[in-house]
Amino acid sequence: MRTYLVTGGAGFIGSNYIHYMFRKYGEEIRIINVDVLTYAGNLENLKDVEDYPNYTFVRADICDSEAITKIFEENDIDRVVHFAAESHVDRSIKNPEVFVKTNVLGTLVMLNAAKAAWELPDGSFKENKKFLYVSTDEVYGSLDDGDNYFYETTPFSPHSPYSASKASGDMLTKAYFDTYKFPCNITSCSNNYGPYQFPEKLIPLVINNALQGKALPVYGDGKNVRDWLYVDDHAKAIDMVQEKGKLGERYNIGGHNEKQNIEIIHIILDTLQEMLPDSDPRKALVSEKLITYVTDRKGHDRRYAIAPDKIKAEIGWYPETMFAEGIKKTIQWFFEHEDWMKNVTSGDYQKYYEEMYKNK
Ligand code: NAD
Ligand code: TYD
Repeated sequence: MRTYLVTGGAGFIGSNYIHYMFRKYGEEIRIINVDVLTYAGNLENLKDVEDYPNYTFVRADICDSEAITKIFEENDIDRVVHFAAESHVDRSIKNPEVFVKTNVLGTLVMLNAAKAAWELPDGSFKENKKFLYVSTDEVYGSLDDGDNYFYETTPFSPHSPYSASKASGDMLTKAYFDTYKFPCNITSCSNNYGPYQFPEKLIPLVINNALQGKALPVYGDGKNVRDWLYVDDHAKAIDMVQEKGKLGERYNIGGHNEKQNIEIIHIILDTLQEMLPDSDPRKALVSEKLITYVTDRKGHDRRYAIAPDKIKAEIGWYPETMFAEGIKKTIQWFFEHEDWMKNVTSGDYQKYYEEMYKNK
């Protein structure tokens, strides 16, 4: 049975990935999820799988080399999928230190622990062991309003403390391949959206605020462009890269779905109007009048756009969920999980861990 060590599995993409992997492989795999549970980690995201015999949760900080080494010593890990990170640009502008600690030093701890566990006395590595660093398109910097794209060969030019810290972890991973032939891959994905996304990010924030008749803050002129991908398509790509990718290679992941922020907000408002029944009192609250232009983010990247040609050609990945469908699925999920949103916005979700584990 193949054993996965997933870091940051209680966050948005990590929890979707864990669900995706259990849907795809069932009892053929075992997953150990290591997460320290920052504000972004929520074990409610994994309620459906927490009792699976082939799922284990370990609360640990990826910067804690002793704790991480212990996991490798006690388990024969075959795959590492390294999601754990501080992930929000606005927070990185206010408090860069924790971004460097987790995203750079934490990544170094993960690389060293995996290398120590997998390296043979002659410096080669055990068969079929693989590490995947989940990077971002933000490492490439910012594009202008033209029709150019980020390729795997685009030089790094990160602008925010978040993207600079992710670029550092990314380059360390590549350095471990170049120096030691450490068996790894790197994926650079565009902006994700979908279930379980924390409402500090644009799409869940707009859905949540609009349903309550609260202001929808638009940074700057609202014309910054992001390239949005449904989170399950990211999970599928990660799995395909680990199984079919060439070691040491980087793969861009994106679905050519570039939209201005203001367009995204209009689509969400229109979709909410379409999906809410007339009898729902929230329908009257959802309005374009909520759109509020606010001071721009410092150093705000103008445009991200991924060229996914390599992953399509070499690995056969393609996105399955187009935006019109993905946004409806996401909104439907938020309709059906009002308690999840209430627990997150009230802070109650942080009590879940204590409650869940007090008798274990
Ligand atoms: P998230 O903020 O929702 O989740 C991060 C998870 O990591 C949380 O569960 C948190 O508790 C955990 N974590 C943070 N610091 C930790 C530490 N020191 N030790 C152990 N666990 C820790 O993030 P996300 O949006 O799910 O992103 C996951 C990964 O994907 C990140 O590496 C991010 O850079 C990358 N990525 C995200 C996007 C996106 O659109 N969200 C796009 C491309 C790449
Ligand atoms: P975000 O979801 O924070 O992702 P990222 O900055 O990593 O791309 O933001 C997406 C875009 O939306 C980005 O251009 C900033 C903008 N934005 C707003 O205009 N208002 C908001 O309240 C937020 C959170 C983001």
